[in-house]
Amino acid sequence: MMDALGEPQGVLVLGGSSEIAIATVLALPRGRLRRVVLAGRPSPALDEAVATLNKAMIPGVEVMDFDASDTSQHADVVDRAFDGGDIDVALLAFGLLGDQAAAEADPDAAVEVATVNYTGAVSVGLRVAARLRQQGHGTLVVLSSVAGDRARRSNFVYGSTKAGLDAFAQGLGDALHGTGARVLIVRPGFVRTKMTTGLDEAPMTIDPQDVAKIIVTALRKGKETVYAPGPLRFVMAGLKSVPRPLFRKLPL
Ligand SMILES: NC(=O)c1ccc[n+]([C@@H]2O[C@H](COP(=O)([O-])OP(=O)(O)OC[C@H]3O[C@@H](n4cnc5c(N)ncnc54)[C@H](OP(=O)(O)O)[C@@H]3O)[C@@H](O)[C@H]2O)c1
Repeated sequence: MMDALGEPQGVLVLGGSSEIAIATVLALPRGRLRRVVLAGRPSPALDEAVATLNKAMIPGVEVMDFDASDTSQHADVVDRAFDGGDIDVALLAFGLLGDQAAAEADPDAAVEVATVNYTGAVSVGLRVAARLRQQGHGTLVVLSSVAGDRARRSNFVYGSTKAGLDAFAQGLGDALHGTGARVLIVRPGFVRTKMTTGLDEAPMTIDPQDVAKIIVTALRKGKETVYAPGPLRFVMAGLKSVPRPLFRKLPL
């Protein structure tokens, strides 16, 4: 339950080892948090996320097995997370970047990206939304991407999954309007995390801590959509209006 100052006390991270999500948990007001559930696939990265939160003296850290691509387990994961106490903020932070060339050569690889990023998000997102609606409060934070604003030749498989996810999150936010539950859509550009390790940095690259600050501020202000960094909103608005013959020639 939110405390008297409206700061979150219960947090659920879906994609428990996401560097953006862990930075966000660390950026939430200290001393207010009571319980943080990290739902993810067992891995050294998930162990490290737990260790990071423990080191920062974040109380009530729990781990739950969660695979976004196995939708048969989603109802149980969400029920266990909410049955253990109110969830004020749920971060939908799992995602696969994939490799565009590999995905084009092997459609099964593309389907894996789509299954995790879109199908998995729809499956778990609707279940989280139902519980938030039941609570009458709480925010589902959806990690979308600027890649979903306009599909690019160089990563259209990933971009199309984020476009679908973003549209889903917009509709879900509208469906929850007036219930006390909300959806916050976050559209980061290039963020330095393990997902982008080894890739050439794009203009306006930021760190997970920068995204975390933007998310925490947006939560406080009750915003529905934010870009990270903020000025990317204008860049993407411009890119969306570039005619396709010209867009194709851009080095994106
Ligand atoms: N980094 C960027 O530049 C950037 C930009 C825009 C949007 N985003 C989005 O932000 C979100 C967080 O990414 P990040 O930057 O924090 O990268 P990250 O640290 O690599 O986190 C991605 C998370 O997704 C999890 N995941 C992947 N497949 C999964 C599955 N089948 N089941 C459960 N979890 C799964 C990973 O867990 P495993 O360890 O089990 O693989 C990892 O915890 C993602 O949705 C990403 O698309 C990132």
